[in-house]
Amino acid sequence: MPIRPFLTSLALAAALGAAAPADSLATAHGRAGVTCAQCHPLVKGKARVDDNETAPNAACVKCHGDLASLGAKTKEAINAHASHLGQIACTVCHRGHEASRAYCMNCHSFDLKIPFAAAPAQPAPARPKPAGKAKADRADVVVIGSGAAGMVAAITAHDAGARVVILEKQPITGGNSMLAAGGMNAAGTPQQARKGIQDSVETMREDTFKGGKGLGDPELVALLARESAASVAYLESLGADLSDVGRMGGASAARAHRPSGGAAVGAHIVGVLRAAAAKRKLDIRVNARVVRLLESKDGRITGVEVEGRHRGRYTLQAGAVVLAAGGFSSNPERVAKYQPAFKGMTSSNQPGATGDGLDLGAERGGELKDMAQIQIHPSVAAGSRILITEAVRGNGAILVNKEGRRFFNEIGTRDAVSQAILRQTGQSAFMVFDEGVHKSLKQIDGYFHLGLVKTGDTPEALAQVIGVPPQALRATLDAYNAAVDAKQDGEFNRPDLPRALRTPRFFAIEVKPGVHYTMGGLRIDPGTRVLAKDGKAIPGFFAAGEVTGGVHGANRLGGNSISETITFGRIAGRNAAAAARP
Ligand code: FAD
Ligand code: FUM
Repeated sequence: MPIRPFLTSLALAAALGAAAPADSLATAHGRAGVTCAQCHPLVKGKARVDDNETAPNAACVKCHGDLASLGAKTKEAINAHASHLGQIACTVCHRGHEASRAYCMNCHSFDLKIPFAAAPAQPAPARPKPAGKAKADRADVVVIGSGAAGMVAAITAHDAGARVVILEKQPITGGNSMLAAGGMNAAGTPQQARKGIQDSVETMREDTFKGGKGLGDPELVALLARESAASVAYLESLGADLSDVGRMGGASAARAHRPSGGAAVGAHIVGVLRAAAAKRKLDIRVNARVVRLLESKDGRITGVEVEGRHRGRYTLQAGAVVLAAGGFSSNPERVAKYQPAFKGMTSSNQPGATGDGLDLGAERGGELKDMAQIQIHPSVAAGSRILITEAVRGNGAILVNKEGRRFFNEIGTRDAVSQAILRQTGQSAFMVFDEGVHKSLKQIDGYFHLGLVKTGDTPEALAQVIGVPPQALRATLDAYNAAVDAKQDGEFNRPDLPRALRTPRFFAIEVKPGVHYTMGGLRIDPGTRVLAKDGKAIPGFFAAGEVTGGVHGANRLGGNSISETITFGRIAGRNAAAAARP
């Protein structure tokens, strides 16, 4: 039966209005006259839904319009249809037979109403059982994870002639990469040259190695720095805008590349990579969790076993596998196992950052290194999971304690700044800035939008709002501004003083450290081959991005991860495609 969009929408609107609290989206559609087959086309007489939920999503768009048109109609301040998650499928949030839930609520705590948010009266239909006999499938290269490392590896392998499948366990692509904020580090770029920034590959190498307290693998660190400018150029060749350059903690020069005006780097890059993947018609499967790596008798990795949300268990044979499954900052038990002191701390990460990739690799003999090296980021907005980018401090904000005083070099390395905050009253600090800093960085608009920023016309007025002694905050700002004028921070030795904080209005965001990045992971060689404990490469097995260990040592510098994902993702894609060739 053909869908009659107009009639169906009207009838559905009436049915939605009459929805019982424990109704489901599916039953309301049924009352409105929508048949099951309109969302679940019959294949050989049976209703089938693929793991990407392609048909139900197409039906949603046909009747209700696409994200852009729905976003344009929204009047509410928080517009879930036009968010930084980009082009995502309707069913990510609007579930047919289960309680609906906005995906953004994994990190945010908006007062956001979504229809059918209560558990439906009738239970969800049973998921397909894991198939007794696995269905077969084949690719040259299978990529696990759809963050920046996975997408870049997949695009590169495809461009080298390989047939590629990307498997992503979450209902959306992008991983933590989509959340990246402050920038992507690179040295010796034309962008830096145009702005007169003095930097070099050698300085980036030194900063990275020193920032990691000498624990990083020297070869991998050198590779990161050497390839960084080429990785920026690669993204630009796909259509990225990385024209703005700012400074991040622990860097001796401005080298964090991001879109013009200082917009967040991650949502932009992931949008570019999604478009590049779509242009190449890459086979991307969401809701597809890899549960095991397949191995031949001689120890070669030959594919994966997948648990599909609808398809159930199946195997996918491959000539080579690239593991790009990210870190484990969203896995509190695993974090506490390696760093008991971080137990109960908030995290800035997406919910899929649970560290499955480490288990998958270790089960096949991959060596794990530096697992206890977990990074807490100094500035997660107090009481939330929202990261306040280091770029705000890089562009001039200062940190002030509850007594209204500065207490540390704000652009020191993250470990040092975080520990300094934890020593302050209430284990938190206020990030204080003025209109000048606000204007310099587009991302700050987002913090206003989320209601995280407190405002005052004068430092004293701001102090009243945030509950710190007004004279102390005034004296702190006067002393800091004098240091900026003198180009010398005698008190805390902050090496970069980009601007004085004198332009009303004045702003503050309360921040606390949160678990942000896991430096440890699978050991790789410079060709991204996963190494076993005996130091030998496991044939057919490559890894890139946060799932690996060795690049960042004991502490990662802000901006170095996105750089790593692109550089090592490119290498992994190239080498996996070559290894997959018969
Ligand atoms: P991810 O992007 O996390 O992707 C891994 C994917 O694998 C995820 O989608 C996950 O769901 C999927 N996956 C996991 N297990 C499985 C499985 N079993 N089967 C299938 N799929 C699986 N770094 C910078 O350099 N600059 C920044 O400005 C910056 N800002 C950041 C801001 C925030 C809020 C956060 C959280 C991180 C930031 N980082 C930044 C760090 C950086 O974004 C990440 O370290 C990086 O994006 C990791 O990329 P990845 O591709 O390795 O992993
Ligand atoms: O603060 C930030 O923008 C985070 C950067 C990073 O993790 O590299």
